[in-house]
Amino acid sequence: MRIKNICCIGAGYVGGPTMAVIAQKCPEINVTVVDINEKRIAAWNDQNVKNIPIYEPGLSQIVGEARDRNLYFSTDIDSAIDKADMIFISVNTPTKTYGIGKGMAADLKYIELCARQIARVAKDDKIVVEKSTLPVRTAQALKNILDNTGNGVNYQILSNPEFLAEGTAVEDLMDPDRVLIGGDIDTEEGKEAMQALVDIYSHWVPAERILTTNVWSSELSKLTANAFLAQRVSSINAMSELCEKTGADVNEVAKAVGMDSRIGSKFLKSSVGFGGSCFQKDILNLVYIAKSFGLEEVADYWEQVIIMNDHQKKRFAVNIVKTLFNTVSGKKIAFLGWAFKKDTNDTRESAAIYVADYLLNEQAEIVIYDPKVTEEQVFADLDYLSSRPEEENRKRVTVLNNPYDVCKDSHAVAILTEWDEFEDLDWKAIYNNMLKPAFLFDGRRLLERKKKEEIGFEFYAIGS
Ligand code: UDX
Ligand code: ADP
Repeated sequence: MRIKNICCIGAGYVGGPTMAVIAQKCPEINVTVVDINEKRIAAWNDQNVKNIPIYEPGLSQIVGEARDRNLYFSTDIDSAIDKADMIFISVNTPTKTYGIGKGMAADLKYIELCARQIARVAKDDKIVVEKSTLPVRTAQALKNILDNTGNGVNYQILSNPEFLAEGTAVEDLMDPDRVLIGGDIDTEEGKEAMQALVDIYSHWVPAERILTTNVWSSELSKLTANAFLAQRVSSINAMSELCEKTGADVNEVAKAVGMDSRIGSKFLKSSVGFGGSCFQKDILNLVYIAKSFGLEEVADYWEQVIIMNDHQKKRFAVNIVKTLFNTVSGKKIAFLGWAFKKDTNDTRESAAIYVADYLLNEQAEIVIYDPKVTEEQVFADLDYLSSRPEEENRKRVTVLNNPYDVCKDSHAVAILTEWDEFEDLDWKAIYNNMLKPAFLFDGRRLLERKKKEEIGFEFYAIGS
C-alpha cells in the first residue's frame, strides 16, 4: 500500500514539526496539517516563515522548503480527512481537571472528538495513527468509535508515539534513536498498515531503528520511556539537596555516576525541576492506570517522582525567601527564563511558573525576561493557577524584552531556564545596577560560581 495523502489533526508542538519533516523527506506525499485553532494555522501560513507559531531550531527552514510544495496548513479538517489515506492524530491530551481521574488521568475528549469527526467524514478505508501520548488501550476505544459510528469503511489503528524532545525536535526527528510502530500484528490488514507507515519512515530512518510491536506495547513504551527519564531527573535532584547539606557538588557526582556505562551520562543534570507537557502528565497517567488495576505499590513508586519534583521547585523558592532575610515582600526579583527548557517557547508545566507563584504568595514583585516567551503567555500561565485575582498578577508581574532592564534595581536574580545567552550577559554591569547585597540564584547550574563571586554576587546554585 502506497500512501499519497496524509492528514495530521493538531498543528502543535508534535504535529507541526513531525509533519514538516515527513513532508521534507517524502516529497511525493502530500501532507496537510489541520487544526481548529485559526490563529495557529494562520501563523503556520505566515508569509514570513520566521513567524511560525512554534520556536524550534531549524524548523522554519524546513517549513520554508516544503510549505505549499507538499506541506499545507489548513482549518478545513473535513476535506483533509476525506482526501487522506493515513490520518495522524496529534491533539493535546492534558491531565483531566474534572470528574473521575481528576488531576491524574489523561483527558481524552479531544481524541474522541477527532475519532467522531473521522468516522463522520471518511468514505473510504483509512489508517489512523495515534501520535499523541495516550493511555494504554486507547487504540481500542478509537476503534470502537470508528467502527460503530462510521460509514462502514475499514480502519486500521496504529500507535506511533513521538519521542522528540522540544528544543531538539528537528534533530530528534531527522536522526531518531528509534521509531516505534504498534499495530494489529495478527492480521494481514494490520501488517499492511504497519508496513505503509514503515515505508514512510524508511525514506530516512535505517531499518534496524524501526521497531514494530503490538499496539499495547507501543502505547505503554511511551509512558515508560517518559517515566524513566523523569525518574532520573528526580533522582539527581534528590541528591542535589543532599549535596547542598554535605559540601558535595551535584555536577561532580553526576559526572562520576554517569561514567558508569550501565548508568550513562544523560538526564543527570540537576535543575529547579522538570517541566514540559509530557513528564508530569504521563507519570500521573501511569499512576492512575496502576491504581485502576489495584497496583498500589507500583502507583506509589512512580508518584514519588512527581512528589520529588514538586519539592525541588518549592525548595528553590523557599531558599530565595530565606536568603533574602526571610522576606521578599515588596522586593523586586528578576527572573531570567520562563520556558520549561532552553530553545523552546513552550511554557507548559515550567518550573518558573510555580516558583513565581510561590514568591507572589510571599508578596514579591517579579520581573521576567525570556528570549522566546511572550507577556501574554506569562500571564496566561499565572492566571491558569487561579492563585490570586488576575489584576493582582498584572500589578505585581512585569515582562520586559531586555535582560538588563529586568535585573536593574532588583534584590535578586534567579535563573529559571538555561538559555545559552544568559551565560554571555555582562554580569558585571548587572551586578552594578542591582541592590546590595546582590543575590544570584542559579536554578540550572548554568553559571560559574567562582566568576560570579569574584564580581561580588552572593551566589546560590542548585546542588552545591
Ligand atoms: C520529553 C521526552 O524527552 C521526549 O522523548 C518525549 O517525547 C516528550 O517528553 P521534553 O519534555 O520536550 O521531552 O524535554 P526534555 O528534554 O525531556 O526535558 C524535560 C524537562 O526535564 C525539562 O524541564 C528539562 O529542563 C528537564 N531536565 C532534563 C532536567 O532538569 N535535567 C536533565 O538532565 C534533563
Ligand atoms: P502537543 O504538544 O501534543 O502537540 P499542542 O497543544 O501543542 O500539543 O497541540 C495540539 C493541537 O491540537 C492544538 O493546536 C489544538 O488546537 C489542536 N486540536 C485539539 N483538538 C482538536 C480537534 N478536535 N480538531 C483539530 N485540532 C484540534
